[in-house]
Amino acid sequence: MDKSAKYEVKDLRLADQGMLNIELAEQQMTIVLRIRERFRKEKPFKGLRIGMALHLTKETAVLVRTLVAGGAEVSIASCNPLSTQDDVAAALAKEGVSVFGYKGEDVKKYYEFIDRVIAAKPQITIDDGCDLVTRIHKDYPAQLSGIMGGCEETTTGVIRLRAMERESKLRYPVVAVNDNKTKHLLDNYYGTGQSTLDGIVRATNTLFAGKVFVVAGYGSCGKGLSLRARGMGANVIVTEVDEFKGLQAVLDGFRVMPMAEAAKVGDIFCSVTGDINVIDIHHIKAMKSGAILANSGHFDAEINMKALNKSYKKRRMRESLEEYDVDGKKIYVCAEGRLVNLAAAEGHPSQVMATSFAGQALACEYIACNRSRLKAGVIMLPESLDNEIAKLQLEALGVRVDRLTKEQIEYLSGWGEGT
Ligand code: ADE
Repeated sequence: MDKSAKYEVKDLRLADQGMLNIELAEQQMTIVLRIRERFRKEKPFKGLRIGMALHLTKETAVLVRTLVAGGAEVSIASCNPLSTQDDVAAALAKEGVSVFGYKGEDVKKYYEFIDRVIAAKPQITIDDGCDLVTRIHKDYPAQLSGIMGGCEETTTGVIRLRAMERESKLRYPVVAVNDNKTKHLLDNYYGTGQSTLDGIVRATNTLFAGKVFVVAGYGSCGKGLSLRARGMGANVIVTEVDEFKGLQAVLDGFRVMPMAEAAKVGDIFCSVTGDINVIDIHHIKAMKSGAILANSGHFDAEINMKALNKSYKKRRMRESLEEYDVDGKKIYVCAEGRLVNLAAAEGHPSQVMATSFAGQALACEYIACNRSRLKAGVIMLPESLDNEIAKLQLEALGVRVDRLTKEQIEYLSGWGEGT
């Protein structure tokens, strides 16, 4: 391995196709392009090194090119061994970005690539799942003092960061980009809903109409997925551990029951909880022959793949689909239990990633401009910037909303007027 090489990708010859895909994504991400034009003039990242561990997709490439336009030197590795779009990685490499990743890399390579990003001595980190931040804290603590801040893209990553913060282990400020309303209420809901079904279809070509579709978890992702599955004609069951979310699912018209009961009646199962062994081996043993299992949570911990792989024989049926022989029953698992929307499909559509990545771009700028006064810990992007993203995206879509009148502003700010 040549550690001085600026990139390691599957095949540089895929670069032209990658650039075509990036151009397609840019068509749907004009809000990010507007930010890019401003960055090109203002150069907020002049001389700064940004290290990223994000899904290496065409949408991420749009973000990378935006940071580069703002003056940053970017190094990027994937945040999942199966989510890299090899043509996109090749296109970025050809543009001079330090990019490390290919679809199907093993876990050793995965961390080697993260280490290559760390070797570039990033001053700002962008993570999706928190592997970059935790790796730096655990194995490269000497570099912490040179890092001004970071951004985190996903719920799982924010949960890990808050655990670090609770134990007083988090040593630099990290913006929870996931917690922007223009991120989790759009990307997690509309994005996961659509891209997860897309992944299951590409892996299995199954029909949803008339099927019992079990969704584990009723957070923003689970809500979006349940709604879309119902929209495709599935009969949706939700499983939850949180009483309030369970109640919300009931009032949204879904059946709610424990996984042990759902396991017996489900045809398709998808976990979106962020937790471990939500679909455990005793659930799998109770399932019908032909059941399809998928996960759309960040890590591959939600289906007990370890137990499945240890005890049962499998056959690879085709890309992204394995069949297990579980005591004579056929159980199908999509994308090795890794997040199905990125491993078996292309991830969220570009339009929904536009607001998420506008949030990443503005969070990086916020860190660069406020570096001297930000404290270590999990921080939020100011609400004014979150609102600005919604405004820019509505403009991009050509949609206008009303403005409060002077009378309405006064009414809302007073307390005197009642019945
Ligand atoms: N997460 C979900 N979908 C994504 C995409 N298309 N690009 C990057 N990260 C994602």
